[in-house]
Amino acid sequence: PRTAAVIPAAGRGVRLGPGAPKALRTLSGTPMLIHAVRAMAASRAVSLVVVVAPPDDTAEVKSLLDTHALPERTDFLVVPGGGSRQESVKLGLDALPPGIDIVLVHDAARPLVPVDTVDTVIEAVRDGAPAVVPALPLADTVKQVQPADTPGAPEPVVATLERSRLRAVQTPQGFDRDTLVRAHETVTENVTDDASMVEQLGLRVVVVPGHEEAFKVTRPLDLVLAEAVLARRRL
Ligand code: CTP
Ligand code: MG
Repeated sequence: PRTAAVIPAAGRGVRLGPGAPKALRTLSGTPMLIHAVRAMAASRAVSLVVVVAPPDDTAEVKSLLDTHALPERTDFLVVPGGGSRQESVKLGLDALPPGIDIVLVHDAARPLVPVDTVDTVIEAVRDGAPAVVPALPLADTVKQVQPADTPGAPEPVVATLERSRLRAVQTPQGFDRDTLVRAHETVTENVTDDASMVEQLGLRVVVVPGHEEAFKVTRPLDLVLAEAVLARRRL
């Protein structure tokens, strides 16, 4: 089965603060997006990477991909993204050529995911799961609250969820292509990950072990951590 990776990279990165679109910000001198593309291309199973770029930066993303070497075996495409992550993923799926039957969806904002995690996800899809999610146990206890009207005001606790049964999900999430396309055509409400759309179809979604280094670069402190991880890898 041929596998492609769709990389939604069209977000602004509001939580990271002012500057270039998040995927184009650099980590140790290399754009975050290039790290993410290399992380997907590192898997021998991935033959195509579809980058969903910020609409105003499509040409720049193309030239970045032209100048940063990828393995010989890996093709790439660049398409403009949409107003939400969900729309951007859909636009990436629309660009997939025939002959691809497994699709990974991977956040550009998770530039450091190790290849073993990518391969574990692909393997589980090959073994028959229509949707596969890498995830980790939580370090923090999670409480459900009644959100306050004024930001910063005390919020009443509604429930404490049983931590041992909770998982924090990462990407790449892996899918049978037809299943993911159907999920994106069927589910219209807003979701924050692709697997939840497959859950809504009533299909089986499974979790495999994620990795600490697959964390999402969301806030400024995450940039510090990402550069520290890269420095440690170079030792
Ligand atoms: N994404 C996208 N298109 C959008 C919004 C998000 O392709 N319209 C992508 C981001 O580029 C990122 C991934 O979805 O790689 C995960 O989203 P997130 O970490 O929330 O990134 P942003 O939406 O850019 O950040 P923020 O929410 O802080 O603005
Ligand atoms: Mg976002």
